[in-house]
Amino acid sequence: MDGIGWFLVRNVLAYYIYRADLTASTSIWYLVASTSNHVPPALASKCLIRGMASITDTKKPTPSPQEFRYHVRKTAARIVLKMTYGPRVGTSEDYIVLADKALASLAEAGAGYAQDYLPFLKYAPSCFEFRRKAQKWRKLVRAMLDVPFASVKEEMAQGTASKCMVSEELERLSQACPRTESIISNCAATMFAAGADTVVSALSSFFLVMALYPDVQTRAQRELDKAIGLPQRLPLLTDRPQIPYIDYICYELLRWNPVTPIGIAHYTTEDDEYKGYRIPKGTTVLPNVWAMLHDPETYPDPLTFNPDRFSPENRANGLNQIPDPAFGFGRRLCPGKFLALDTLWIVVATILTVYNISKEVDETGQVKEPCAEFTPHSLSHPGPFTCTISPRSPTARQLIMQTEMHT
Ligand code: HEM
Repeated sequence: MDGIGWFLVRNVLAYYIYRADLTASTSIWYLVASTSNHVPPALASKCLIRGMASITDTKKPTPSPQEFRYHVRKTAARIVLKMTYGPRVGTSEDYIVLADKALASLAEAGAGYAQDYLPFLKYAPSCFEFRRKAQKWRKLVRAMLDVPFASVKEEMAQGTASKCMVSEELERLSQACPRTESIISNCAATMFAAGADTVVSALSSFFLVMALYPDVQTRAQRELDKAIGLPQRLPLLTDRPQIPYIDYICYELLRWNPVTPIGIAHYTTEDDEYKGYRIPKGTTVLPNVWAMLHDPETYPDPLTFNPDRFSPENRANGLNQIPDPAFGFGRRLCPGKFLALDTLWIVVATILTVYNISKEVDETGQVKEPCAEFTPHSLSHPGPFTCTISPRSPTARQLIMQTEMHT
């Protein structure tokens, strides 16, 4: 997807080379050292339940797919933006809307992918629709890159910048040249491009799954209530060891509909062989992550959403392994993996503490089956579906209304 901005992702590698010290890289530690990242996901999950309240009042408990997707996107965006650019950008509605549009273009760019494999398409005249779209997307991605970066630089100049990845990196590089600045800016946008939409996909699957599998939801709520008391308070990441079932739900979300079903393209660095097929050095390889995570030899009954498969008693003899392939392979493995798992955990736990999610029932009492289809893009999302979201109890409603909308 070079044509519209996934070139950003590649810049992360350029940055590592430039810093010449992968393990010491602050940017990566921002993502990997999960314990220091608890705050943005925990705050954002509160904003999400409060935001949901505005679209799920008692008269209209079934938000439109666009409405609830918007709140999910906003939550994912806030988390990454705050860590990358600080609170001013992370809570700016304008920037979230801009980033949301840019992300939507990245998601749609399944078509643009062809350009990576057929580079001559770059030279197709702009009267072709895909070229026109690519140009529009490129503008959005450019703005996503430049606007927040400029905002942090301005804050630094005024001495009001908070600690975030961009301010720390710019400070460290006090003698930064335009080239290194542009690498930092690209890296920051990469965090966003790679970190927000992936989380949106997994969280959207969560709403779908809760509507489809009420037993899973009931069991999760039982475990949450046992650990933290019937909604007396919202869950904290420190409650995690007491509620492993929420972890199992998160793993199963990543397995059941992998966010990147055909992974991200890698090149072989030397000649290789697989099942008798010769793979010459320099070949582009796309890992079939969906097939790996739906192999019945490893994941019995793979099409069923069954978090319990990850309980220790069901994981003997190599069965039901934690779905690591969802986060990629080799040196380009997702550096946001632990942050992503923390985020999924706290959002899933917070929502299930205060809300029930169920299938929509229409005016005539007919239950509407939510559509369990997924977009055929390299970054796959559930297609549009409806579900009903309502507070679990008056106490839960109170808890929701007590949380702040803008943290
Ligand atoms: C459910 C959530 C997530 C999933 C499923 C996911 C998955 C992936 C995958 C499959 C890759 C490509 C790995 C490869 O090349 O084999 C990747 C790369 C990456 N991810 Fe994630 N990711 C998630 C969340 C995050 C978050 C929250 C962040 C950071 C804020 C993040 C940052 C990155 C970055 C920077 C890369 C590029 C690494 C490189 O090319 O060297 N990801 N991710």
